[in-house]
Amino acid sequence: MKYRGLGRTGVQVSTLCLGCLGFGLWTEEAESMDMIDHAIDSGINFLDTANMYGRGRSEEIVGKALKRNGKRSHIVLATKVNSPMDDEDPNATGSSRRHIIDQCEQSLKRLQTDYIDLYQVHRPRSDTPIDETLRALDDLIRAGKVRYIGTSNFSAWQLVESLWVSKELGLNRFVCEQPPYNMLDRRIERELVPMALTYGMGLIPWAPLARGFLTGKYRRGEIFPGEGRLTEERERMIAPTRTRLHFTEQAFAVVDVVGAIAKEKECTTSQVALAWCAQQPGIISPIIGPRTMEQLEDNLGAVSVHITDVDKSRIDSGALPGRAIVPYLIADFRPQQFRW
Ligand SMILES: NC(=O)c1ccc[n+]([C@@H]2O[C@H](COP(=O)([O-])OP(=O)(O)OC[C@H]3O[C@@H](n4cnc5c(N)ncnc54)[C@H](OP(=O)(O)O)[C@@H]3O)[C@@H](O)[C@H]2O)c1
Repeated sequence: MKYRGLGRTGVQVSTLCLGCLGFGLWTEEAESMDMIDHAIDSGINFLDTANMYGRGRSEEIVGKALKRNGKRSHIVLATKVNSPMDDEDPNATGSSRRHIIDQCEQSLKRLQTDYIDLYQVHRPRSDTPIDETLRALDDLIRAGKVRYIGTSNFSAWQLVESLWVSKELGLNRFVCEQPPYNMLDRRIERELVPMALTYGMGLIPWAPLARGFLTGKYRRGEIFPGEGRLTEERERMIAPTRTRLHFTEQAFAVVDVVGAIAKEKECTTSQVALAWCAQQPGIISPIIGPRTMEQLEDNLGAVSVHITDVDKSRIDSGALPGRAIVPYLIADFRPQQFRW
């Protein structure tokens, strides 16, 4: 495993981060805990979860696994706040001081820890001034409950605004951002990546495999068995509008190129897609989201795959730099929140 500095902090994180979204949702607790152990034994020291993943279930499983293996102190543990935690309570959501402090306490309990290494604001909010959010997060750092703060799904201007406010008010600043990024959706290369490189903001992308499409397991015109994340059955469970949005000729053509590169390197298509993501400018650690131990094994192999400049230009010819070639790849985003 290789390690990189997390943005401008002095902390080293593995070049793959284990995403825990599916733990307790589509991966049973026992297998999830074994996967956490295996990832850590393989050198991963960076775990990403969120309060809203299974409404606390994922955090509980992560907490239980770290208690069982006794590795908490070696782990850079990231979680998030912002999404609704109670449908009846209008204050159980968002980036207010009230909700952030309340949820931090809840996450600490579920994670069975005294501190969160990286506490991230899951979505930007236009209804809460950024100074309120930053002051609450700064208080949590000063209280020793949080070590670093970050964001997810923020645009470049929102981050620069936050840096300006932190500087003006003498508050701790965001050190990293978690955007969607993969070969089919390269929008962040236009503004977010240059901003991150300029201001020392670490980028830790989610959906590096475009939710499974870049594994090459989906084929033109073929019906895929029910357990695949992008099959109609699974899609209906998550968000009906997303179904088969990835399944365009342009996207399949990218998978063909990636598959050909993988064949030459004697590795899997998903390993090339993950290695490409990890080796793009500004990227610190793509967040993998394996559903099974077998998928985790495969994903881990990406750390030893080297992507050459020639590979990159072959990929660029279909997966256009700075562009999303699949419309609304991440369709659950409301456009007003995302202004890349
Ligand atoms: N901040 C945010 O807003 C946000 C949003 C989403 C996710 N995240 C974070 O990012 C993490 C990763 O996101 P993601 O799950 O969308 O990542 P992803 O890597 O794009 O997709 C993961 C999916 O790809 C499939 N897959 C992975 N390896 C495979 C293999 N070797 N063979 C076949 N299929 C394979 C699995 O789907 P199947 O079910 O088809 O097997 C798996 O669920 C999450 O766990 C979470 O921590 C953050």
